Amino acid sequence: MKNLTIEISGQPSHYDIVFEETLVSLDKSLKAQIKRRNYLVVTDRNIYEKSPFFRLNDFKNHLLVLPPGESEKKWETVVKILDKAFELDLDRQSVFVAISGGVYGDMVGFASAVFMRGVPFIQVPTSLLAMVDSSVGGKTGFDCAQGKNLIGAFHQPEKVLCAADFLKTLPHEELKNGFCEMVKHGIVADEIHFKSLESMPSLTVKTIMPLIRDSIAIKQKIVEQDEKEAGIRGYLNLGHTFGHAIEQLSDFKIPHGQAVAMGCVMAAEFAYKKEISSAELVAVIRAIFEKFEIGVDCEFSQTAIFKAMRHDKKKKDGHIRLILPEAIGRVRYYEMADEL
Ligand code: GLY
Repeated sequence: MKNLTIEISGQPSHYDIVFEETLVSLDKSLKAQIKRRNYLVVTDRNIYEKSPFFRLNDFKNHLLVLPPGESEKKWETVVKILDKAFELDLDRQSVFVAISGGVYGDMVGFASAVFMRGVPFIQVPTSLLAMVDSSVGGKTGFDCAQGKNLIGAFHQPEKVLCAADFLKTLPHEELKNGFCEMVKHGIVADEIHFKSLESMPSLTVKTIMPLIRDSIAIKQKIVEQDEKEAGIRGYLNLGHTFGHAIEQLSDFKIPHGQAVAMGCVMAAEFAYKKEISSAELVAVIRAIFEKFEIGVDCEFSQTAIFKAMRHDKKKKDGHIRLILPEAIGRVRYYEMADEL
């Protein structure tokens, strides 16, 4: 697969997203990218134990393996990453590497953004969700008691090395998570991508692999125009305002992708109620998730969800800004006034 290059508007530097054929070629590219710099690699225990990648390269004492899970996405974990960087004598010429899904990708990115006021980092996404979404675009950070990703920084990686072989050791649930973000990309900006996903006979590594690059390319175009989310990047939050609230209410038992799927359906229903879109659109969005056995009906009341949405970042002048679909491939902002 041909590389993608992200060129952020107004910035002199750019970076590549490289698609690696195998874990062996990934290892070679990663070594070439680190060069002779001092480095720290961070991963989580699940990936460390399940992926054959760490049998190819164990990174010796440069590897930090931490517990998996969204509950670890917190300041205390960032401190562990920074402590390890100091222990290894990393300096401003060094590089951080995240070989992980979105949780550690975001935290390693944040640690590298603040370590000595900012050092480079490399993203090696191991989940579908991290490949198509979180590893691209420079959003880094962690969760706090008030909500998800409320503390963070924009810090672009110097390279993203994407190896679909990681997907072979993932549970099916993880494929579903990433699939939901890919559907979101289609609803936001690309009807053809949506239709390609919709027409897959089943959701497997083989069927999804050819569509990964297209999905990243949708995000690439948006991020290039609006790195800091002053305008159209906000469209990528479709389903997330409802979704984050659902994740929190479920105590993170509902996975992120499914919460986003639920959020996309809620956004479509809300758009229909406000006469922004049609009942057919709600049905089409619901159907693509249900085709691949992703449940979109949630047990929480609208009042509970609206209450949990209060700390959302996507606010303007105190009003929650929802992203609502008008059609497949077209969304718009909607400021909630009296609904909360
Ligand atoms: N995940 C949405 C964004 O990166 O803007």
